[in-house]
Amino acid sequence: MNYKKKIFHVENISTEKLSKKFQTPLYCYSYLKLKKNITNFKKYFNKIDPLICFSVKSNSNIKILKEIKKFGLGADVVSQGEMMKALKAGIEAKKIVYSGVGKTYSELKYAINKNILLINVESKSELLAVEKIAKLKNKKVDIGIRLNPNINPKTLKQISTGRYGDKFGLEKDEFLNLVKYSKISKFLKLKCLSVHIGSQILNHKPYEKMLKVINNIINETNHKFKFVDLGGGMGVPYEKKNKKFNFKAFNSLIKSFLKKHNVKIIFEPGRSIIANTGILLSKVIYIKKNKFKNFIILDAAMNDFMRTALYGANHNIIPSIRKKKIIKKKFEFVGPVCESTDKFLTVNKFQLIKEKDIVIICDVGAYGMSLASNYNVRPFPIEILVKNSKVQIIKSRQKLSDII
Ligand code: LLP
Repeated sequence: MNYKKKIFHVENISTEKLSKKFQTPLYCYSYLKLKKNITNFKKYFNKIDPLICFSVKSNSNIKILKEIKKFGLGADVVSQGEMMKALKAGIEAKKIVYSGVGKTYSELKYAINKNILLINVESKSELLAVEKIAKLKNKKVDIGIRLNPNINPKTLKQISTGRYGDKFGLEKDEFLNLVKYSKISKFLKLKCLSVHIGSQILNHKPYEKMLKVINNIINETNHKFKFVDLGGGMGVPYEKKNKKFNFKAFNSLIKSFLKKHNVKIIFEPGRSIIANTGILLSKVIYIKKNKFKNFIILDAAMNDFMRTALYGANHNIIPSIRKKKIIKKKFEFVGPVCESTDKFLTVNKFQLIKEKDIVIICDVGAYGMSLASNYNVRPFPIEILVKNSKVQIIKSRQKLSDII
């Protein structure tokens, strides 16, 4: 994705053409970028040969999942709906791991019937529910137990998941109790220690601490785990000031861990695979000026893309056609939704911009469409996938009549 002669292109097609043909707001993904991300991810860890389970919550478009499946990835799911989508995309049940603090009894039954790779349980009650279903079916169910390693991942607090104050996983003592319980259960087969300390983590140091904690705990359990599921969380540079996540350093940490423990590593990456494959094209509806700011009112809003309103996240906005003339004034890019948090970005300068111009909100492939809603009775935007010069509609724009 780049400018060619001042016009932004996704592979071989300009965003001007795309926005005219498919209208806006428009989610657009690049196949080549997806391929590159997956290939790189595999390359970073090729000596470890992990099972890579794409985190479906980051992007659950079935066509995208189908492409991901073709690269041999599995899936990390957190609901029956996500599991059904992963299976429908052709992902093998034996490559699906199921996480989440509140899996219902019927969701667990569904997962057990499908014989997925692992149910990563997060509480004693959940473990007992799995055991009860397994007993009724008279089978042994493969499980993991999620540890809360009490580590600050140094990311946004809203997406930190591995500190004792967070609802996820089990603290050490309870973890050890459940290991003991599962080892003697006739209906549970404890295969995995799982952990996920947070998302958009840019420094590998918290992972280093996490591996130390896991190492000590495995030694204490004296149990032969087949898998260690390290979760996802590897961050991406949304902003220029962000450093890239150091995959090489993470890989060497894991390699030394594996010298002590002969296990298969599972990863559950979402963002690092899909974030920078997607952009959101939006049209300027109105420009409203006051003494302090130019409000650029877009046809995309927080219901289409929620990260900025929800976390105060920063996503760059760039023009579809580059112009030379720069205006030095505060520009605030906002949506039409009736909430003051419905804004995408404030900058101190931007190029000359007019009503009907197209702008591009960057890096929205992860937690973009998957977090979208119908708030303000606004229909879901259309999603397309570009492969060289070909475009495929991978989800049609929702019709207003369908919501009303
Ligand atoms: N595994 C588990 C158990 C998770 O809870 C998550 C994300 C992942 C894997 C994938 O993490 P990733 O590699 O994508 O960082 N909506 C927020 C992010 C929430 C993440 C929730 N869990 C955002 O837009 O930043």
